[in-house]
Amino acid sequence: MFSRIAGTGSYLPSKVVTNHDLEKMVDTSNEWIIDRTGIKKRHIVGDNETTCDLAEKAARAAMEMAGKTAQDIDLVIVATTTPDLVFPSTACLLQRRLEIKGGGAAFDVQAVCTGFVYALGIADKFIQSGSHRCVLVIGAETMSRIVDWTDRNTCVLFGDGAGAVVLEASEEAGILSTHLHADGHYADLLKVDAGISKQPELLASTFIEMRGNDVFRVAVKTLGRIVDETLAHNQLEKSDINWLVPHQANIRIIKATAKKLKMSMDHVVVTVGEHGNTSGASIPLALDTAVRDGRIKRGEILLLEGFGGGFTWGSALIKF
Ligand code: UT7
Repeated sequence: MFSRIAGTGSYLPSKVVTNHDLEKMVDTSNEWIIDRTGIKKRHIVGDNETTCDLAEKAARAAMEMAGKTAQDIDLVIVATTTPDLVFPSTACLLQRRLEIKGGGAAFDVQAVCTGFVYALGIADKFIQSGSHRCVLVIGAETMSRIVDWTDRNTCVLFGDGAGAVVLEASEEAGILSTHLHADGHYADLLKVDAGISKQPELLASTFIEMRGNDVFRVAVKTLGRIVDETLAHNQLEKSDINWLVPHQANIRIIKATAKKLKMSMDHVVVTVGEHGNTSGASIPLALDTAVRDGRIKRGEILLLEGFGGGFTWGSALIKF
C-alpha cells in the first residue's frame, strides 16, 4: 500500500511587507536582502489572524482539489512551531473547524522548518500500516509572532502562510520514501530561548535567535548528504528527479542543493522571493504553487527536502 498525494492547497495572508517597507523599520536595504537571501517580500497575518485560520484555508483548497469531504479524513497532522494555543493542538482545532468527524486522530508535529517533511513521513507510515486511509497533512506558521521586528538579522527573513496536502491510500506508487533526521547538539544555533516550562515570564518578549552563518554552512552540507541518501535508497540517478521542491530559506542554499543534483534551476521550485521563509509551511506552499501553475504534472518524480531548528532535516521522494 502506498500513500499518494490526491490534492494540494495553500494560503497566504493578504498583508504584504516588502523590503522597502523593512528599510523604514531597520538598518537594511532592498539590495542587501535580495543579494544575501533572494527575498523580495513576505506575507504577514493581521492582528486577529492565527495559524489555524491559515491552515483551514490551505486545507479546504487541498480537499477540494482531492475531491474529498470532511467525512473522508481520518487523520489530521499539522506541522507548526507557532500553534494557536499551548493546547489543544492546532490539529484538533482544525478538525473541529472543518467538521471532520471526531474519533479519527489529530496531532501537531514540531520540527520547525522540517516540520512538513516530518508530518508527511509520519502520515505515510500510518497509511502504509493500514491504520488510516485519508490524511490531511498541513504546514502552517505565523512566524511574524516570534520575530523581533527590530532585529535586522532575522526580521527580513521570515513570513507567514500555510500549505496542505491530502494523502490517500493507493495501490499506485506515490510517496516512494521519506528520510527524517535530527541532531540536538546544534540546538543553540537557531532557537527561541523561552517556553512554557523554561523562562515562561520571558515568553512574550523572546524571539528567534539565529547564528545565520553557522546555520547556512551546516544546511548546505546536510542537504547535499540527504539528496545522496534519498537517491541511493531508491536506486535512482540525479537525472531521474523531475522537480526539486526545497525548503525556502535562502536562494543561495537552494542553488547549492540544485548544483549538487546537477539540476538546472528551471527544475527547482523557488518561492522564497515572494514568501520569505515560512518555516514548516514553505515546502507545501512551494509544492502547491508549482502544481497549480501547471509546472508539476502527474507521474513526475519530486524531491522534497527541508532543514531547520533542532537541527532537524529530512526529505521525501514522491511520484506525483
Ligand atoms: O530555515 C531554517 C534554516 N535557516 C537558514 O537556513 C538560514 C541560513 N542562513 C542564512 O540564510 C544567512 O546566513 C543569512 C541570510 C541569515 C545572513 O547572510 P550572510 O551572508 O550569512 O550574512 P552574515 O550573517 O555573514 O552577515 C554579513 C553582514 C554583517 O555585518 P558585518 O558584521 O559584516 O559588518 C551583518 O550585520 O551583514 C549584516 N547584516 C545585514 N545588513 C543589512 C545582517 N542582516 C542584515 C540586513 N541588512 N538585514
